Amino acid sequence: MKTIAVLTSGGDAPGMNAAVRAVVRTACENGIKVYGVVRGYNGLINGDFIEMDLRSVSDIINRGGTILYTARCAEFATEEGMRRAVRTCQEWGIEGVVVIGGDGSFRGARDLSERGIPCVGIPGTIDNDIACCDYTIGYDTCLNTIMELVDRIRDTTESHDRCSVIEVMGRRAGYLALNSGIACGATAILIPEVPFDIEKHVIERMKKTQRADKKHFIILAAEGVGIDVKALAEDIEKKTGVESRATILGHTQRGGYPTAKDRIMATRMGNYAVKLLMQDIGNRVVAAQKEEVLDYDIFEALNMKKSIDMNLYNVAHEVSI
Ligand code: F6P
Repeated sequence: MKTIAVLTSGGDAPGMNAAVRAVVRTACENGIKVYGVVRGYNGLINGDFIEMDLRSVSDIINRGGTILYTARCAEFATEEGMRRAVRTCQEWGIEGVVVIGGDGSFRGARDLSERGIPCVGIPGTIDNDIACCDYTIGYDTCLNTIMELVDRIRDTTESHDRCSVIEVMGRRAGYLALNSGIACGATAILIPEVPFDIEKHVIERMKKTQRADKKHFIILAAEGVGIDVKALAEDIEKKTGVESRATILGHTQRGGYPTAKDRIMATRMGNYAVKLLMQDIGNRVVAAQKEEVLDYDIFEALNMKKSIDMNLYNVAHEVSI
């Protein structure tokens, strides 16, 4: 391949810039022209490209967000949008595309590959919900950010003998909630993968720990369980007598400079993706498993199911008493 493009799509994640940098630098080092596509698939449809060089990705390895901007593009999901994107790629001589994003972005990459533009996906999402990977770019940073934020809430929760009910991100997945719950010593963790009952899993647990002399509590809920944390805090206060507050961490979780792990894995994945395209291999997802970088067919990757580690869930429950 002589010319490729790189885009970021869906929710941004810390470490995406490190991946863009690795794609650009690997391409340049191997004599391949590389375009940065602005605002995800929108840019691919409209030809919003920036020709990148070694220096256009300087000083971004440490930055959160994405210098290429990102979007969720409804038009790309239509046949006409897809046709326009293919036409734009052909006009610009783009022979392969690296797509950094979540599973929605990978569906676009699969469809584009099927229409003759080979794509390689790199998992970039704080949710860690890509089935073929045990890690996605941004997850580690986000987890550490949540831990820091909850630690702050914990200081004031403890000082007032209160209960804090905290909602963390995770549209359909509980990895952030489960692991931050363990890292922050939450009394109860509510995640979409495990059915729960508020009376049994929150109220009774709190009462049990109260009897063991505990006076302040952190309850962590994944956004994906769809609970109104303010209403839950009121309910807890009424039933346990513990003054309660609710916090939705929201988008504070998604920004900030990436951790070493996110920078390193993003760099390895970006490099790996370009090496696939250099061999004319498309329709693949780069995956990380046990620190190893490998790749899967996109179609196969999208059909895989990711389950929660119940051992981890049980550990969380056993030690949170
Ligand atoms: O997919 C990443 C994510 O941060 C989810 O955890 C969250 O549900 C969603 O994106 C929020 O999207 P937006 O920034 O578009 O509101």
